Amino acid sequence: MDKLIISGNSKINGSINVHGSKNAALPILVASLLSDQNLTLSNIPKVDDINNMQKLLKGFGSKIKINKNSITINNRNIKNISADYDIVRKMRASVLILGPLLARFGYSKISLPGGCAIGTRPIDIHLEGLSKLGATFKIENGFVIGNVNNRLKGSIIKLPFPSVGATENILMASTLAEGQTIIKQAAMEPEIEDLGKCLISMGAKIEGLGTKKIIVEGVKSLREAKHNIISDRIVAGTYIILAIMLNSKFHVKNFNTNHLLSVINILRKMNCNLKVKKNSVRIFPSSNLKSAKVTTKPYPGFPTDLQAQLMALMCIVDGNSQIQETVFENRFMHVPELNRLGAKIKLLKDIAYIKGGQQFKGAQVMASDLRASVSLVLAALCAEGQTVINRVYHLDRGYEKVEKGIGILGPKIKRIKI
Ligand code: UD1
Repeated sequence: MDKLIISGNSKINGSINVHGSKNAALPILVASLLSDQNLTLSNIPKVDDINNMQKLLKGFGSKIKINKNSITINNRNIKNISADYDIVRKMRASVLILGPLLARFGYSKISLPGGCAIGTRPIDIHLEGLSKLGATFKIENGFVIGNVNNRLKGSIIKLPFPSVGATENILMASTLAEGQTIIKQAAMEPEIEDLGKCLISMGAKIEGLGTKKIIVEGVKSLREAKHNIISDRIVAGTYIILAIMLNSKFHVKNFNTNHLLSVINILRKMNCNLKVKKNSVRIFPSSNLKSAKVTTKPYPGFPTDLQAQLMALMCIVDGNSQIQETVFENRFMHVPELNRLGAKIKLLKDIAYIKGGQQFKGAQVMASDLRASVSLVLAALCAEGQTVINRVYHLDRGYEKVEKGIGILGPKIKRIKI
């Protein structure tokens, strides 16, 4: 497991183009299973979760051709429709294959998922939704096995919570179901809208994307299509917060700033000096940053995936801040590690109380989940001295290699291969 050695007191200069969204690319890769025609995708990020998803698809018999700036997937000859523990445990998004496989082949078998070690993360909402479309499930030897008699049938499905993954799974499955499906209390994340747009270009009939009510008219088959994946709003937000923490003048480019409005609003309340355009944010140094109180929520609320990064910033601004995490249980694994770096954060149930005005100091720390890991990188870059971050494989799941991405902007980050 690689480690990163990071020198503190860094500055960053210049600009960065945000790479493609991992959370949009994952379901869109899976959506290719719905059709036996080519799907060509551009703006695919070079991160480990995407490599793992491609491995999973190849295991099923997918043919993936790498072009200059895109990939073309063909799933004409799918031979195997069971996904093993080894790959599923690395990536919870593997559960997304259930819907498309059931819709096209009437059968699917996947190992119960793993992924980030945050909370219990069950898949009941996925299974209940797909059951309403006519699938039946049993759990045997750690596998979820789904079956459909004939074709899935459209239905009205009200989600108990706007789960991102469950909305995507049901949306994909319903494109090939017989008749109309209405998903109520659907998640509204931009990545779901992007998946929906890709499905529409494949011939699916979908209305209400980006709203709580998605309506799908099932079709018999989907056709060849091309799609350009949106840029990663979480990566964009991470770079913005990093530049603020390093009090640097910096330009984050090539993403839709509408996707980050809740974050931009909070940062402005904290007195961050931002110039926001349609597809970029310029960050300027600011001397009077102040505390804030934030609650994570499903989109368009403040994203849980930027909670750890914002917390790192809150440690160094004036005054005391609070973050309440309402989307996931136990998504505070970065707190003890940030405290090792000199933060003063206390946890009480789902609220973190952050004492501001602290100076991070380099130490040995351990990365736990994807977003927790990146908050440690941010803290390390503005710490006094050197920090060693162990177990960085979580980071590689969602960020193109940080020693190259952030490294070329000025900071000294070295990867030690172990
Ligand atoms: C997706 C994102 C992840 C992000 C999260 C919330 C991908 C690949 N991952 O994860 O980065 O942090 O959305 O924005 O897109 N839940 C259940 N039962 C279910 C499904 C979910 O109880 O069947 C719970 C989860 O345990 C969690 C909450 O619902 O507490 C949100 O989960 P969900 O929106 O499904 O997140 P993911 O799709 O796993």
